[in-house]
Amino acid sequence: MRTIYDIAELRQALDGPKRQGQCIALVPTMGNLHAGHLALVESARARADLVVATIFVNPLQFGPDEDLDNYPRTLAADQAGLQAAGCDLLFTPDTATLYPRGLDVQTHVRVSGVSEGLCGGSRPGHFDGVATIVTMLFNLVQPDVACFGEKDYQQLAVIRQLVADLHFPIEIVGVPIVRADDGLALSSRNGYLNAEERGKAPGLYRTLCEVRDALEDGHPPQQAIDAALTRLVERGFKPDYLEVRRAHDLAPLDESSREAVILVAAHLGPARLIDNLSVSLP
Ligand code: PAJ
Repeated sequence: MRTIYDIAELRQALDGPKRQGQCIALVPTMGNLHAGHLALVESARARADLVVATIFVNPLQFGPDEDLDNYPRTLAADQAGLQAAGCDLLFTPDTATLYPRGLDVQTHVRVSGVSEGLCGGSRPGHFDGVATIVTMLFNLVQPDVACFGEKDYQQLAVIRQLVADLHFPIEIVGVPIVRADDGLALSSRNGYLNAEERGKAPGLYRTLCEVRDALEDGHPPQQAIDAALTRLVERGFKPDYLEVRRAHDLAPLDESSREAVILVAAHLGPARLIDNLSVSLP
């Protein structure tokens, strides 16, 4: 696997494969890779001739009080993991390479609608930062396929909307959530938890499962949500939101909604954790 830091070298490396008509798959990440990220690489590997991963901790998608400075940076281990998972090329630019005129960028990409509420409500500007960097990476790599995790369900919905609206000729692949044996969704931010908090953390997924069971049994969504919020607090979380939305576009549920998704964000000690679970309503 080759590691590339600058744009000219990236373009040069992609030139041959593109001219030969190779199928290129992109896996954008912020590094500190775990088995969830590597599942995206494996999914990309199965679909493409050339797998390009990116590692870039994008300042534009972090709020002023968020963990940009502490975000774990583990390049050597990430390179080993990517290589083992079958990645061909890693692009890991620094901030000045992608934002040479500084972070006060003039061009933003904003996807309205689907990026409002949920994480978009608690993290103002977050999805503008995500949509802007993902557009930039799509433009730099020009992949045929790009893989994103269902772990960040709203992010995946934002990117699907972005690709549809801007006519990017890119197939977006959603990859199922990879969980630890106790149910906790793998996340770089799990590393912020101490042993006691890590012991409590699977309570997030357990709560989602309880909401799913209640909904499948025909309980009204609001009743299931209220009970779950109480249980989250009892389990040591500070809930940010817990909502049930329509699966395909995250719109509020209506009478005819059958395929839904339960989405949660909650603080546990120093970490803000997110998770989600699909449910078919009776
Ligand atoms: P990051 O949090 O590093 O995640 C990179 C990709 O890995 C995302 O598509 C995310 O959904 C996926 N992922 C993370 N944990 C996962 C898990 N447990 N199971 C399956 N997939 C998982 O998401 C970002 O970075 C950034 O916002 C980015 C898209 C790179 C833009 O900066």
